[in-house]
Amino acid sequence: MATSRTFITQPVNCISHRLLPAASAAPWTPHVQFQSRPPRREFATVQDGTPEPPKRTKFGGLKDQDRIFQNLYGHHGADLKSAMKYGDWYKTKEIILKGHDWIISEIKASGLRGRGGAGFPAGMKWSFMNVKGWENDTKPRYLVVNADEGEPGTCKDREIMRKDPHKLIEGCLVAGRAMNCTAAYIYIRGEFYHEATVLQRAIQEAYKEGLIGQNACGSGYNFDVFLHRGMGAYVCGEETSLIESLEGKPGKPRLKPPFPAAVGLFGCPSTVANVETVAVAPTICRRGANWFNSFGRERNSGTKLFCISGHVNHPCTVEEEMSIPLKELIEKHCGGVRGGWDNLKAIIPGGSSTPILPKSVCDEQLMDFDALKDSQSGLGTAAVIVMDKSTDVVRAISRLASFYKHESCGQCTPCREGSKWTEQIMQRFERGQARAREIDMLQELTKQVEGHTICALGEAFAWPLQGLVRHFRPELEERVKGYAEKHGGEARAGGWQHDAQKQGLLISPGQ
Ligand SMILES: Cc1cc2nc3c(=O)[nH]c(=O)nc-3n(C[C@H](O)[C@H](O)[C@H](O)COP(=O)(O)O)c2cc1C
Ligand code: SF4
Repeated sequence: MATSRTFITQPVNCISHRLLPAASAAPWTPHVQFQSRPPRREFATVQDGTPEPPKRTKFGGLKDQDRIFQNLYGHHGADLKSAMKYGDWYKTKEIILKGHDWIISEIKASGLRGRGGAGFPAGMKWSFMNVKGWENDTKPRYLVVNADEGEPGTCKDREIMRKDPHKLIEGCLVAGRAMNCTAAYIYIRGEFYHEATVLQRAIQEAYKEGLIGQNACGSGYNFDVFLHRGMGAYVCGEETSLIESLEGKPGKPRLKPPFPAAVGLFGCPSTVANVETVAVAPTICRRGANWFNSFGRERNSGTKLFCISGHVNHPCTVEEEMSIPLKELIEKHCGGVRGGWDNLKAIIPGGSSTPILPKSVCDEQLMDFDALKDSQSGLGTAAVIVMDKSTDVVRAISRLASFYKHESCGQCTPCREGSKWTEQIMQRFERGQARAREIDMLQELTKQVEGHTICALGEAFAWPLQGLVRHFRPELEERVKGYAEKHGGEARAGGWQHDAQKQGLLISPGQ
């Protein structure tokens, strides 16, 4: 009888008996036996293979040799010779010669997400410039570097430009090559006079040494870098507004689509990218995507510049591993919260437009895009603003509401009118001259603005207010109650005193 080959050394006493003729009801022994082979499990469904390494659960404690920004504290000069000593412009020609596909795939594999606030995957964004047939378009193509850094609390791009300017210029060349650009425009915030001077000097050095310009680094690739100083409006940091401003027009955001990769600066294909995003690209290409990817949690990889300000003992900008716990970041690099961790009241984790978090959330918070999104906030620009128990959070958020009202460009009604109303409501809450029901009205108003504007400044002014209502509602209620106790009654709508009508200050229709 023909039998199939099995690797069994013992008589079979299993379900397959039922398939055998009745005569073989006794235990059956196969004709062919492989004595030397080990027994095999018959019904296994899991494939053998190398088990996945256990997932990391601890992040932070970045080693000095893994820091990209080696001169963040200005221990060396910002000149070319010093920059070369700590690794800049090393093998740049080889990177350029590898071509756009290689650079983009390396950036994609590194998991780098944009450092300008939105956290969009950089490799994917850059690849939009190289759509099918891009070679046939004879128009110039631009990389626009966003060095406007207007988000309150943020001071990381400034450190790069004044201490490590060659990282940014080399980054322009590498990112520019990835997108087949003809030139980069660095749009620097007007107030950064010193930074603009240092950067311009570095650009001139790079031109002189043949690192940029015609035949950049001897690679045969021609690439120019221009520096443009802005005029100091927050909204000019928004990418399409920045493009308008570069073109010499008022900095008002454009409706999208078309996106800048299709119609950007001077009507040509362009990509706007943040200073930090661009500046880390050469190191990623040199050290490899896997090196960068080894830091931080999945989808949140890399090292990151955090700028910590407010009520800490030593405010600073520091490069750390992504996903570092917030508490560790502050204790390790800033000497802790003023008066100790228990004196903490709240933290704005990613620049003024991200929702505020109370201490209870901060205790366990990881600092990355997804963890902060899960906490209903955001990593934004990673500008951590610390507030201890002496802080009047209502006043703090009210101040931000005034900022956003001042910076609204006025094109969209929800943003123009909503920012004005919220400023007025918040100023009344500061004094307690509001009604308790206005807390929900404030929340509803911000929900009406979100997603209904041309640019994300609408969200930027809505989110801090939503964070305040979500976590500090009792403080708002306390203000109203305190005013009522002091003045013998809750204020009337619009902030009028409770007895304004009696005093003849308010006249009803018909009176
Ligand atoms: C009101 C507003 C202000 C912004 N300001 C800045 C800024 O100062 N710097 C910046 O890099 N991005 C800023 N952004 C984000 C940019 O629009 C854009 O997303 C970013 O530069 C893209 O860079 P990335 O892909 O490298 O993150 C701002 C966005 C808005 C809506
Ligand atoms: S959201 Fe505000 S800042 Fe943005 S375009 Fe509209 S009005 Fe201007």
